[in-house]
Amino acid sequence: ETVDWDPETATKGGYEHFMYKEIHEQPGALRRTIHGRLNPLNGGVELEAFPPGTFADVEQIHLVAMGTSHHAGMYAASLMAARGIPAFPFMAGEYAVTVPPVTPGTLVVAVSQSGETADTLDAVRRARAAGARTLAVTNVVGSSITRECDAELLIRAGPEIGVAATKTFSSQVTALTLLTERLAEDVTGSKSGDAHDIVDALSRLPGDVQEVLDTATASAIAAEYQDSDAYFFIGRGIAHPVALEGALKFKEISYEHAEGFAASELKHGPLALVTPLTPVFAIFTGEEDEATLSNVKEVQARGAPVVAITGDTDGEISEFADHVLAIPETHPDVAGVLANVQLQLVAYHAAKLLDRPIDKPRNLAKCVTVE
Ligand code: G6P
Repeated sequence: ETVDWDPETATKGGYEHFMYKEIHEQPGALRRTIHGRLNPLNGGVELEAFPPGTFADVEQIHLVAMGTSHHAGMYAASLMAARGIPAFPFMAGEYAVTVPPVTPGTLVVAVSQSGETADTLDAVRRARAAGARTLAVTNVVGSSITRECDAELLIRAGPEIGVAATKTFSSQVTALTLLTERLAEDVTGSKSGDAHDIVDALSRLPGDVQEVLDTATASAIAAEYQDSDAYFFIGRGIAHPVALEGALKFKEISYEHAEGFAASELKHGPLALVTPLTPVFAIFTGEEDEATLSNVKEVQARGAPVVAITGDTDGEISEFADHVLAIPETHPDVAGVLANVQLQLVAYHAAKLLDRPIDKPRNLAKCVTVE
């Protein structure tokens, strides 16, 4: 595979910030991520470098990554586990310390936009030393991680200049969803039951993201809550890493206090922080929605306003939520990508209202090459 972009020539192309441009580039980025990799006729995924059977001897998956890439790893681990594949996400910097059992049947999937993150490279080296197979999921051709891993899967998102990762998260999750389908077939011996629906949802994803970008609700939400004390994000299953990513984006560029929680965790501490000045963004994917709705009612009882991110725009969720950020209806496994785009927009508009240096937030770097 080849790439034909050069970061030096990247420009803002009329957008005020690279981040906003990159958020809007997502439909195109996703088209490239899936290009030539879906077979809608048989519900199959075709990854050139990984023909059927490539992963037949894989017993378990470790996903190692940092930051936004770690959230993509958590998302993928949920998808894999739901298909009967033992899969575990690790923050790469902790992988060094906790060293879980790595066997020759372990496939270590290292997720890194840049392919240069020191902690992630270190995790790869440890995995190799322990005899594991390694696979890099990255945006950058020829990056260190591609040289250190046995194989690579390119996400093809194109150059990302903004320090806050946006389009690369969407492309990482999408590439990892493709990988999940291939793994399910190889590891469990049969395609996942939903394979057709997933392939269909992925082929519609670029258009669905465009639909989210064409709605303007996020800026009004950011304005409505700009004087809050803190911003909380909750979700279950794949919506949990989306909640963490929503909070990460928000804190990175707005410098406001933002935290993501598993919705189930709420009662075990975070609820003590909830007040009328802490809006709660609740992410619904169409799976486990009832349980998350009961958490919504709990925070509302403490006076917190709730913004629901949901495809269910005329049902119970919308009835209870104070505001809705709508996403197109799709397969629950793909809905998290759409919800995340809404949260990217909220974070962007909140930071813009505060006049923050959105593309270069204080103290942060695009690529962290020290441990
Ligand atoms: C830094 C960047 C993040 C990124 C993380 C991991 O913290 O600011 O946006 O998610 O590194 O980077 P990687 O290139 O490995 O995905």
